[in-house]
Order: sequence, then C-alpha cells, then structure tokens
Amino acid sequence: MEKPFDIQLERLTGQASYSRPAAMNLASSQERGTFFLETFGCQMNDHDSEKVAGVLLARGYRQVETPEAAGLILYNTCSIREKAVQKVFSRLGEYRTKQVEGKIIGVLGCVAQQEGEAIFERAPWVSLVCGSASYRRLPEMIAQLETGNHRVTGLDTDTDETFETEMTRRDNPFRAYLTIIEGCDKSCSYCVVPYTRGPERSRASDSILREVRQLAELGYSEVQLLGQTVNSYADPTPRKMRFAELLLAAAEVPGIRRVRFTTSHPSDFTADIVQAIDSQPKICDHVHLPAQSGSGKVLREMQRTYTREEYLEKIAMIRGARRPIAITTDIIVGFPGETESDFEQTLSLLDEVRYDSLFSFKYSPRPNTAALRMNDPIPEEEKGRRLAVLQEKQREIQTARNLTLIGETVEVLVSGKSRRENQWSGYTSSHRVVNFTSPAKELLGTYVQARVTGATPNSLVGEHAV
Ligand code: 5AD
Ligand code: SF4
Repeated sequence: MEKPFDIQLERLTGQASYSRPAAMNLASSQERGTFFLETFGCQMNDHDSEKVAGVLLARGYRQVETPEAAGLILYNTCSIREKAVQKVFSRLGEYRTKQVEGKIIGVLGCVAQQEGEAIFERAPWVSLVCGSASYRRLPEMIAQLETGNHRVTGLDTDTDETFETEMTRRDNPFRAYLTIIEGCDKSCSYCVVPYTRGPERSRASDSILREVRQLAELGYSEVQLLGQTVNSYADPTPRKMRFAELLLAAAEVPGIRRVRFTTSHPSDFTADIVQAIDSQPKICDHVHLPAQSGSGKVLREMQRTYTREEYLEKIAMIRGARRPIAITTDIIVGFPGETESDFEQTLSLLDEVRYDSLFSFKYSPRPNTAALRMNDPIPEEEKGRRLAVLQEKQREIQTARNLTLIGETVEVLVSGKSRRENQWSGYTSSHRVVNFTSPAKELLGTYVQARVTGATPNSLVGEHAV
C-alpha cells in the first residue's frame, strides 16, 4: 500500500523562522567524528554508499549504527518512483520532533540531485545536499559546515570523480560492486535517471581492471560490474576495450571466479557478450535485460529505442548460446495510454520469453521527464490490477522453470547461514537463491555443489552434494 505523504513536513515548506544552530561544535564529544548512513534504492546507490563511507573513514570518521549516536547523519536517496521520494521525506520528517542541535543532516543521491536546494525549505534541519558526482568533495563540504557555513550543496553531474575514490568500505563480504559507467545517455520518457545522474561517463578500462586485481587480492572472488546501461560501456582510453572484452579480462584476473554485470540495455546488447559468456564460464550465465513493455506502441512512447521484435531477436541470441543463460527483466505497467490490449502484449511477452525472474512496477510520473505531459493516465486501481495479474503470471512461470531444475547439481557461492542448524544459502551463477542443508561447520564465502531437491517460485531447495 502506498504511504500517505507526510503532510506536516509539507506544511513546513517555505517556513522562514527555522534556523540551524550555526556552531557545529555543539555536537557532544562522543558524537563528533561519527556518521550514520542509510541507503535507499538500487545497487548503484548501495555501492555509492560504500564509497561515501570509505571517503569518511579515510578521514578518520567512525561509522555508528543509529542517528542518535552520530554527529553526521546522511541519507543516500532514490527518486526513481514517487514512493521512494516519499520514503525519504518521511524519514527526514522524523527530525521535526527530534533533537538535532549540533548535528549535520545531509541528503545525498538522486533526491538531492532532483530537488536541490528545495530540500532546505521542505526540511530546514538539513544543511547538506549532495548528488552522486560530488561525493569526493564531501569532507570539504562538511568542513565548510563545521566552520560556520549554514548550508552547502554539491550538485554537478558531469564529473567522473566518483570512480576514483581512494577508499571504498564494502558491505558485502562475498560480492564486490564496481561502477564502470555512470549516468545515462538514453532518454526513456518515464525515467528521471538521466536528470539525476547526468550524462553517460565510462571509466578507464585499466583503472577498472586494476580495481578487480585489488579486489581479488583482498579475497573477493565475485565482482559485479555496475552501470544504468552497463553494456553501453565505451572505454575512454586508446585501448578502446569493448564491454565483452572487459568481461573476459576481468574473468582472467587470478582469484576471480565470477563476473556479473547489470543492467544491460537491449539496444546495446551485442552478440560478442553472449560469445564471451559461452567461452568463459567465470562470466555468470545471467543477463538482466529490461523490456519495460511488450507492446510496440508503448515501447515507442517510452522512447525505448527498440521494437518488440528487436527485443525478441536479442532474446533469441541469448537463448542460442551453448550455455543456458538466465534472463531477468523489468516491466512497467500502466504507462500513460497503455490499453488492455497493450497490457496483454506484455503478458504474451512473458509467455514467449519465460523469464527466470522479473521486477515489476506501476508507472510513476516523475519530474523533468517527457511522459509527465502525456495524456491518458491510467487510474491507480487499474495499475494495481495489471501489476497483480502480471505478477501472478510470472509466479507460475518461475515455479515451472524452477521445478525443471530438481535433480540437477548447481554451484553455490555460500553467503548466508540460517539460525536453523545445518541450513545455508547462497547464489548460483545464474543468480538463483539456493537454500540447502549441509552438516559442514563453516561454508561462508566458499563454493559448494548443491543437489536441487525442491523448488519454490523464488528459490531452490537443496542439499550439499558430496
Ligand atoms: N515509474 C515506474 N517504474 C520506473 N522505472 C524507472 N522509472 C520508472 C517510473 N517513472 C523502473 C524501470 C527501470 C527500473 C530500475 O525502474 O523498470 O528499469
Ligand atoms: Fe532510465 Fe532508460 Fe537510462 Fe535505464 S536506459 S536509466 S530506464 S533513461
């Protein structure tokens, strides 16, 4: 259910009487030099937070578990759908009644970029607003606040500073995320990302591979290359490495056993990526290829740059690989003007592709996007109905697909241990969750063979094969 907007916070808009205590030295001595960081949204945001934490830790800050214990409170935010933005403002609204004297409250990420200085009006206790391209400047911005500046912003979008943070504090001990391309040059009519994350910038291939080698030396065996359109990667160095070559080069780094990548854009998805997966088993057999809709008309209105037929050609290319490759997708229902027949074409796309998993969303109008001005909005209840129908269909497909795996043996990178005895979990190369039993004492971070004995729509059940 959608959360109602935080009305009290909205009422504060334009309130001029609130003033921040100017002297930051009011923070108690325990809180000084500590930060709390909460992250909303996608893997790119999770990874950005790892970089922010790294930058602060390198400057001697200490991370704490609660905002109460922190001198610096940061929210790394998401604005992909209105619900995500509401969540952020409702979190900020909690400070209306909290003691914030002496603390610095900062908004980072996509809401920061989208709303800019308007955040100061909506939540006057915020004094720092910083988009993802300016994180390296955070210590300097915090220093400005500490020396009496009232409010600071970092809202540039065209720098590539984010790639080269000197330290990244990684949260996931089993999988290391690595941004290889920032921003987006596509212009899907519903999407706010080109606005919040700016134009596409690719990171130098030698710098990416250097980081992969460092990660392997630190003990990571799985890396995931990230980008909004990861396969649009364009190496800025004279080497001009293609994306598929980069995947192969990363897989060849000693110690690396799995290379993942997400998210791929169908228009830039080329045959050499499939060949790379075929020729190198360390490149994971999983492609996330957002279709968004199965209707050619809606795809055109969405400015997705491909037709249904062209999308299906890419699927055929992936299905033609020698290794079975899992395919997952994103679907938006209720785009303006989506008729019942358009929606049925999306359902038929699900039947045709038989995705291994999908993320589905109700269309949410976003500021600064072309679709905002489109006629024929779909009522919320109808969007909800379509979403439920779509999810039910996918549930059936997933159950059937997972059932076919019973009896197979799959390799699992173990990343979880249940409180229940002998119960472990992890991911296959194809990104399926496997919950399995094993009498072993310690398996975390290791690769084990599991025999699949059961299946649910969202996971496999198995036992350690010895
Ligand atoms: N409304 C609903 N879903 C959206 N997405 C992006 N923008 C919107 C929007 N305005 C979805 C797309 C994208 C995923 C990350 O979020 O499906 O692939
Ligand atoms: Fe948004 Fe489209 Fe770019 Fe994906 S490709 S980030 S949906 S504009």
